[in-house]
Amino acid sequence: MAVVERREVDRARVKAIVAREEAAYRARTPRSAELHERARRSMPLGVASSFQTYEPYPLFIREGRGSRMWDVDGNEYLDFDMALGVLAAGHSHPAFVEAVQARAALGTAFTFPSEEQALVAEELKRRFRADLIRFSNSGTEATMDAIRVARGYTGREKIVKFEGGYHGHHDDVLISIQPPRASMGDASTPNSVPASAGIPRSRIADTVIAPFNQPEIVEQILDRHRGEIAAIIVEAVQFNIGVVPPEPGFLERLRELATAHDIVLIFDEVKTGVVIAYGGAVEYYGVQPDLFCLAKSIGGGTPIGAFGGSEAVMRVIEGGAKAPLIESGLAHSSFGGAARVAHMGTMNGSPLVMAAALAVLTKVLTPDVYPRLQAMGDRLTAGSQEIIDQFGLPAYAINVGPKGIVMFAPQRVTGYRDFIGLDDELWASSFWYLANRGILLPPATDDQWTISVQHTEAEVDRYLAVFRAWAAEVAG
Ligand SMILES: Cc1ncc(COP(=O)(O)O)c(C=O)c1O
Repeated sequence: MAVVERREVDRARVKAIVAREEAAYRARTPRSAELHERARRSMPLGVASSFQTYEPYPLFIREGRGSRMWDVDGNEYLDFDMALGVLAAGHSHPAFVEAVQARAALGTAFTFPSEEQALVAEELKRRFRADLIRFSNSGTEATMDAIRVARGYTGREKIVKFEGGYHGHHDDVLISIQPPRASMGDASTPNSVPASAGIPRSRIADTVIAPFNQPEIVEQILDRHRGEIAAIIVEAVQFNIGVVPPEPGFLERLRELATAHDIVLIFDEVKTGVVIAYGGAVEYYGVQPDLFCLAKSIGGGTPIGAFGGSEAVMRVIEGGAKAPLIESGLAHSSFGGAARVAHMGTMNGSPLVMAAALAVLTKVLTPDVYPRLQAMGDRLTAGSQEIIDQFGLPAYAINVGPKGIVMFAPQRVTGYRDFIGLDDELWASSFWYLANRGILLPPATDDQWTISVQHTEAEVDRYLAVFRAWAAEVAG
C-alpha cells in the first residue's frame, strides 16, 4: 500500500469553516430554532431523548421518504443517518407502509397474542441460529432483559461490559460509555464510571469494565472474578465510538472464555443485527453467542426490541432459574414463582410493531439485498479514503457492511482509549459543511452512516462530491 503523507490541518481555517457553516445552518433553519425554543418550555433540552439534541439546536424534521428527509423549513437532505441506524429499510418503504396501514385498521393492541409474533420469532430464529426469542419495545429493554435472564440462569450477579460500549440507558450498562480520561483508571483494570447521575453505587459495583480487543486483559479480569460473572455483553463492532471492528480472533476468544467460565455470552446486535448481514454479527463473524439482543432495523422504524438465544438459557423464563428472587414479588400468576425469570411488557410484540417487522424482514431485508448493501458501504468508504489520501488529511474511512464513518484520527482506533483523541473540530467542520449542502450524517462524532436499501449509487457519489469539496477547502 502506498504511504500517503498526512499533513497538519490549518486550525484557523478549520475554525473559520465551522463558524461560517454554523451561521449558514442558523440562517436556513429558523423554523427549527423556533420549534426548539417552544419545545424547551415543556421538555428538558426540548427533546424526548437526550440523544435528539445538539448545539445550537436540532433540526426538526417534517417528512422522510426513501433515502430523503425534509426539515420544517423545507430543506431537503440525503439521509445517511437513517435514525441512528434504525432504517436499513429506508424511510417508509412501501411494504412497510402497506403492512402498518392494514394492521392499524384491524386493531393494534390486545392483552392476547396475535399470529404475527410467532412468525417474526421464527424469522429471527432462522437468521440468528437461535432456539427461542422474546420481544420488547427497545434496545434498552432487550439488553436489560437478556442480562436478567443470564443472571437467573447462572445465579451470579456481576456482568462484564466493554469500555466505550453502549447498550442502552438502564443502570447496569450506563457505565463507562465514554468515561473522562481523569476517571477511567489504568488500562488493565479500567474503572467502572457511571455515565449519568442517579445510578446507585450497588449497580456500578456489579458492572466490571474490560478493554475491547484485548483478550489477555479480559482473561485476567475473568480470573479475578471467577464464579461471579453472569454475562459478558459485547457489541461485535463497537458502533458507539465510530466504527471499531473486532480484531481477528477477539470474538472467538470471548466465546472460549465464556464457555470455560460458564458465563452467558451476550451479543448486542441492536445496530449490527439484520444490517451488516442477513444474520447480523453472528453470521458476519461466525461466532455464536448464548444470547443476542435486537432492536432498531428489525422494526423498520417502529419501537421494537427482541432478545433470544439457546434453548438452555432462554427456558429460564419458563423455570429452572438459579438466582434467588424475593418472595414478596411473586403473587401475580405471570411471575410464576421464584425459579422463573420474569419477562413482561404491556406492548411487547404488539400487533402493529410485529406487522411492521414481518414486512421489513420478509419483504425488504431479504437475503439478496446484503451484497448490494455491502457494495454501497465499500463504495462510500473507498471514495472517502481516496479523497482523504489525495488531500493528506489526518483521518481514515472504515465500514462494516452498510455502516461506516470517516474517523478523524491519523491512526486506526482499536478501542475507546484511542477514540478519545479524535479531532472533534475537524469532524464538526465536515458535519456542518455536508449538512448545509444536503448530506445529513449523525450529529455526533461517535455515530456512523447507515446506507439503506433505498439509497442509490448516484446518491453515494453525490455524498462523495460534497465531501471532496470540503476536503479541498480544508487542505487549502
Ligand atoms: C448497540 C446498542 N445497544 C442498545 C441500544 C439501545 O437501544 P434503544 O435506544 O432502542 O433503547 C443502542 C442505541 O443506540 C445501541 O446502539
